[in-house]
Amino acid sequence: MTDPQLFLTERVQQALAAAFGPEFSDADPLIRPSQFADYQANVAMSLTKRLGRKNPREVAQEIAERLTGAASPGAAKVSGPDFPGTVEVSGPGFLNITLDDAWIAGQATDVLADPHTGVVMTDSPQTVVVDYSAPNAAKEMHVGHLRTTIVGDALVRVHEHVGNKVVRQNHLGDWGTPFGMLIEHLLDIGEEAAVAQLEAGEGNEYYQAARVKFDSDPEFNKRARARVVTLQAEEPETMRLWHIFMNATVRYFNKVYTRLGVTLTDDDIAGESMYNAALPQVCDELQERGIAVISDGALCVFPPGFTGREDQPLPFMIRKSDGGYGYATTDMATIRYRVQDLKADRIIYVIGATQALHMSMLFASARMAGWLPEHVRAEHVQIGSVLGSDGKMFKTRSGKSIKLLELLDEADVRAAAVIAEREYDDAARAEIAHAVGMGAVKYADLSVSHDSEYVFDFDRMLALTGNTGPYLQYATARIRSIFRKGGVGPSQAAGPVVLRHPAERALALRLLGFGAAVAETAEDSAPHRLAAFLFDTASAFTTFYENCPVLRADVEEETRASRLALCGLTLRVLETGLDLLGVPVPERM
Ligand code: ARG
Repeated sequence: MTDPQLFLTERVQQALAAAFGPEFSDADPLIRPSQFADYQANVAMSLTKRLGRKNPREVAQEIAERLTGAASPGAAKVSGPDFPGTVEVSGPGFLNITLDDAWIAGQATDVLADPHTGVVMTDSPQTVVVDYSAPNAAKEMHVGHLRTTIVGDALVRVHEHVGNKVVRQNHLGDWGTPFGMLIEHLLDIGEEAAVAQLEAGEGNEYYQAARVKFDSDPEFNKRARARVVTLQAEEPETMRLWHIFMNATVRYFNKVYTRLGVTLTDDDIAGESMYNAALPQVCDELQERGIAVISDGALCVFPPGFTGREDQPLPFMIRKSDGGYGYATTDMATIRYRVQDLKADRIIYVIGATQALHMSMLFASARMAGWLPEHVRAEHVQIGSVLGSDGKMFKTRSGKSIKLLELLDEADVRAAAVIAEREYDDAARAEIAHAVGMGAVKYADLSVSHDSEYVFDFDRMLALTGNTGPYLQYATARIRSIFRKGGVGPSQAAGPVVLRHPAERALALRLLGFGAAVAETAEDSAPHRLAAFLFDTASAFTTFYENCPVLRADVEEETRASRLALCGLTLRVLETGLDLLGVPVPERM
């Protein structure tokens, strides 16, 4: 165990159990980074009450002495043979903990030798189903889908990295009544023209053209409705046309995924259409078992705790009064499949925050039906909206929605301007610009908490300072250049780490937290935690770099080896971390 926070949690718990009884062995010692020391433990205050005692400072002193095996009891700075650091009681009863330099250095040297860089591999791998991206074939894939795609892909990477079995599920919107008119439109304009338009990402224009005819041309309208019926029945010729439409659409989605370096493939497609055949049976079973009831002609589940106006129970409608199925029906079939067939231990839905009610009603209904047993964890990772500079949904100036590939092209162009003064040949420049542009766009989605809204702003995301993708990429490039100048490979720098300067110490202590940052990101489905950790690491590196020369001739051998080791470890942490976020790392920048 290398993460200081986890180490301290465990050690303080042991001290609590030893001092006050085994029932305290799992009390949370509330270890937090501190302004006055490396960490503080805030447990003494609440514990004092629980123990029926009066003075939290006394309790804190007892914990400190037990923790350290205090050499001289009663001292203000408590230290002893059992603990690699000193503890001081402060304020109302905080424990301020400062770790020994030698301990930090030793741990850093160990992490350097650890192929997992301090990340703890799970010893009981879970099957984690991640539902993400999920654009709708009948509409344009927009920046909102970009964000669910980017956040979902980061979560997938993190879970795979810690050893879980991940099943990606791209729940495409590829079914339903609009497909009647979409297929008829395909027949009207001809297969070739339709395919070309869809592959070019003009799904919106295609949809609108179909829609106009649907609304204004009775003959077309009639054909479209009839087509919905043959589609529901999966009639072969209709399915052939549907496949033509979908394949072209998916080819466009794949262009976006490839461009973004997203790990989704065709094998991960499990769209709404996949569940079509199961829907009648889903409804029948729920009705027979009394989980769903007819209300105003529709078949509904009324999960407990959901009420609308005037405390009316809120329906989760799985079959409309006209007999049609909807989003809720499909999602009930989907969740059953994920639990029963995919054997999910945990299901992560990375979906817009606007669908929060649908998701919580889905989970509650599925629990009622027994399709989501207690031991399976289901969560909605709510994705906040991406806004334009006017604070409204992100659109182009003309008010049209933005073409994703054009947006990514613009990112490349603007990134090229950021590195304009650097001396590279054209090919290298294009490659770096691409990595920087892509990294900037992706990191902007990942660095803020996934449920918050943010304003899409190229200038801010491409800045070389602050919590941005390019800043982190630049930090790695700078470290690589140190190794190039020093004529050693990053992996050759094995230390040992020795800590003499405060900036070395701060950097080393920070680096020990990588494993915990990754674990926390997996546990809380929160890539911004990992992003914040990487940013803090890069900032600690910047301070180190400004204060601690590495290659200068007057730096003695031992110090130089240690500093190179810190550089190497920082590089590995940043590169691994950025890779987990799906942010590409250019070698130079
Ligand atoms: N296609 C939906 C949308 O664009 C997202 C689907 C999410 N997944 C699910 N199982 N409901 O909003």
